[in-house]
Amino acid sequence: MTESPSTILVRAQPQQRTSHRVEDEKHEKQNTVRINGVDVPLHAAGVVRGADLAGAGIRAYDPGYAHTLSCTSSITAIDGAAGVLSHRGYRLEALVANASYTEVAHLLVRGALPSTLQHNAWTRALYKKAIAPIGARKTLRALPRSAHPMGALVATLAATGATTDDMNPSRCRDTYNTTEGREAAALAVLRCVPALAAAVMRHSRGARTQFLRLPSSASQWSFARRFLYLVEPRLLSGAAADARVAAVDALLMVHADHEQNCSTAALRHLASSGVDVFSAMAGATAALYGPLHGGASEAVVRMLRRVGGLQGVDTFLAAVKSGRERLMGFGHRVYKNYDPRARIIRSLVKEAVRGAEGNAELLAVAEKIEESALADEYFVKRRLFPNVDFYSGLVYLSMGFQPESFPVMFALGRSAGWVAHWLEFMDDPHKRIIRPHQIYVGDNMQHRQVLPLPERPDGELLPWMAVRRAKM
Ligand code: SDX
Repeated sequence: MTESPSTILVRAQPQQRTSHRVEDEKHEKQNTVRINGVDVPLHAAGVVRGADLAGAGIRAYDPGYAHTLSCTSSITAIDGAAGVLSHRGYRLEALVANASYTEVAHLLVRGALPSTLQHNAWTRALYKKAIAPIGARKTLRALPRSAHPMGALVATLAATGATTDDMNPSRCRDTYNTTEGREAAALAVLRCVPALAAAVMRHSRGARTQFLRLPSSASQWSFARRFLYLVEPRLLSGAAADARVAAVDALLMVHADHEQNCSTAALRHLASSGVDVFSAMAGATAALYGPLHGGASEAVVRMLRRVGGLQGVDTFLAAVKSGRERLMGFGHRVYKNYDPRARIIRSLVKEAVRGAEGNAELLAVAEKIEESALADEYFVKRRLFPNVDFYSGLVYLSMGFQPESFPVMFALGRSAGWVAHWLEFMDDPHKRIIRPHQIYVGDNMQHRQVLPLPERPDGELLPWMAVRRAKM
């Protein structure tokens, strides 16, 4: 199996927020590679530009973009082989140990860790008008309580875009043409996502009121403490309250950004059409919802429950190796080593499940699965390790959150990264609409004749038509 490239590291200016073009790299000596008789420029770290390949009559077919570099970015770097994740040069472990989520959000969005003065101004800006717009409120109330909270988050973000005219380029054409306009839109997203995330979690739990109002003292609270209050004020009472707040703060930092993952790539894709930022965030949230992406956090807990205790682990892993099961929370497109985020979350989970009886058993099953898989040829050969989703749900479960709400917590943390990538894309003077090509494998008969309807033969019945015919 070919190694999927981790982030290609090209010299980046510190605190540089806009991406730059590969060809802007000043090279003393331009290396080239000869393809089809054409000298194709070879940039730093073995990068070839698609346009130069096309110039040599070559196109790369790359399903899932497993080997495609879609953009330049200075926000996050992943060394997949070593299992190292860093944001603007700071390793995640150091950030989790010495900063808070709002500091990391400032680093991602504004390009540098804030000073105390900057952090106070930043949180004041984030906390101001941190309420959900009326369009989102009405949309949520229109959804049944049984609606999946991630689908509700997609709907309320889209509704926010549909009703926030002054930040919607289709209604306010030049709104993103200035730095101020883009910054205002970014801030509006960061303000409303916590309120929407908490509300969809309350809605799905059947809480009488979805949108709670924070007490005035909350202006001095941390982001995590405010969020837990909006989800359920009782989470801030009792001896475990501070530990809960600290765990959520760490989890938000762990999920904050992860370079060109499926949902961030989707966000950039949507942003490239010029659609409003809320709709782009709704699209990114929809991508994260999938069980192969952020939805895995929910799928892991359901899987652990299905294993049937420690005695079921060997049978379950046999089902995985035979292809009848997928080991959710394991494997990664980039990490071919232990996901550093899983290591951080694992250190949180023991404390979190203490006293939460049922969860302690699920943790024991998860640890047994990890121990067995990491010693098993099937997983070792495929470089499958625990990823960010393997242990996170057990922490949330111990807080009383429902599994369907786990990806909402993921989206909340990732909202800072999505906003940072949206700004980086929008600030890029070279941005273009994203529109890949394809290899056409359909019917190659050119200009087939269109017969009038009555003259067309039945041909083979499509499966659903056969069912319909049988019912007639
Ligand atoms: C996230 O990209 C990101 O950064 C994402 C993320 C982020 O922060 O944004 O890190 C968050 O999405 C983490 C991943 C969460 N998803 C899961 O835990 C779902 C389970 N994992 C997989 O389905 C899979 O590993 C993916 C989706 C994560 C990665 O898929 P790839 O890179 O396309 O790998 P693949 O499916 O081609 O698998 C390669 C081989 C195959 O075996 P062979 O065909 O070679 O025999 O590994 C096997 C797969 O069958 N395999 C697994 C497996 N994952 C891969 N076998 C069993 N269980 C698994 N989990």
